[in-house]
Order: sequence, then structure tokens, then C-alpha cells
Amino acid sequence: MPHQGIGGRHAALARDEQKRAAAERAVAFVESGTVIGLGTGSTVRPLLDLLAARLASGALRHVLVVPTSEDTAQRCRVLGIPLVTLDEYPELALAIDGADEVAPHLDLIKGLGGALLREKLVAGAAQRFVVVADESKRVRRLGTRAPLPVEVAPFGWSALLPFFEKLGASPALRLAADGSPYITDGGHYIVDCRFERGIQDPAALARALARRTGVLEDGLFLRMAHVAVIAGPRGVRLLKR
Ligand code: A5P
Repeated sequence: MPHQGIGGRHAALARDEQKRAAAERAVAFVESGTVIGLGTGSTVRPLLDLLAARLASGALRHVLVVPTSEDTAQRCRVLGIPLVTLDEYPELALAIDGADEVAPHLDLIKGLGGALLREKLVAGAAQRFVVVADESKRVRRLGTRAPLPVEVAPFGWSALLPFFEKLGASPALRLAADGSPYITDGGHYIVDCRFERGIQDPAALARALARRTGVLEDGLFLRMAHVAVIAGPRGVRLLKR
């Protein structure tokens, strides 16, 4: 656990409260009798607790959830939230997920939690995609705060590095705590691509990445989110695309 001074601990506490506030606002988007996608990460976690509480009290009924990761699935099982798959329900009323960066027009970078492939599948299947984040995730330009996670096939992954460099990135294979390659739920690797001055043209970058064999998905979620629930020290606000 990284060392935090007293100020750091207070900031983290304040951020946890913001995440909780964002989750409370976001759970209001969930309607009874719907199938929804739920994302991955520390901002979605309190949302799972709130959803479970509403299902248990009867305030919400008959909500089925497609989880975007094994981690979220496991948490839902513990909380008694009923799970289904995207194969069973390919059209979702709603998806709610966190983000690593939220730029103007609600363009996002996602995937620091490693779940980007399933997250993009679930967000793309949803009629409405709601992002929950705290104020610290807001950026003017994508890639200025977070690296861009790119999910790749383990076979020959390092042969992709010069390609990423040509695109302007400093790529680094993501490692697990024990120093071995981090493995996604789908059994793939992730290369985190840092852009020194941010990403100049996210749409062009996404097109270039999509054309490259071995690249399975990237963390650019462009024009996908419909609403962002952003929590800050002064409260929660909704941004619409
Ligand atoms: C998971 O792969 C990511 O896309 C998460 O949605 C993202 O990392 C946000 O996580 P936090 O809410 O923990 O910051």
C-alpha cells in the first residue's frame, strides 16, 4: 500500500465519499424489470451495494445484471444480485461503468482495471451508457492523466511495440504484483500506452489500433457514453453528451 500523509488520507476519504455520492445518483437510472450491464472498479463497487440493498428491500424488482468482469460477477454473487450473460441478453436497457478519464463529449479512457474488452462489449450493447466518476477523472484531452490500455494477444505481443511507438506512444506491458504479465479475464495481455502530450486525434488512433492484427481492443470509448455522473467536493452533477 503506498504511503499517504494525513492530507493524502483525507483526500482519499473525500474521494471515497464522492464515489459513493456518484453511485447513489447513478443507481437512480436503474428501473425494475430490466437487464443491465455493470462495470468494474472502485466507483462501481458502492453501486453494487446500493443495487443489492434496493433489490432486497423491494424498491427495485426483477433486475438482471451482465457483469463486465469476474471481479464484479463475484461481488454480485456475494450480494445476491442475479447474473445473466450477454449471450442470453444481447440487448441491455442500461450499462453503468466507471472510467479512467472523461473528456469533452464524454469520450473516455477505460481499462486501468483490465476489463476493457468486456466493458466495451457491454457498453455497446446498452441503449443507454452511464459513466460514474469523481472529478479527478475529468480531462481536457484524453491520455493526459492515464495511459491508454490496449488488450493484445499474448502470442508475439512484443512485436507490436514498434507499432505503438510509431503511433506516438511509450508502451509498457502491464505486470501483475508478482512481476509476471497481467492476464485479463479473457486470457490476454495489456500494453499500457503513455502519450507524453496526450492523444491528439483519438478517433484516428482508434482506427489505426483496430486495423492491427494482435490488437484485440483498446481503451478508447469514443461517443459511447450518454450521461456522466460526476461527483466533486461540491456535490454531484450530470453531464450529457
Ligand atoms: C476497468 O477496466 C476500468 O475501465 C474501470 O472502469 C476504471 O478503471 C475505473 O475504475 P475506478 O472506478 O476504480 O477508478
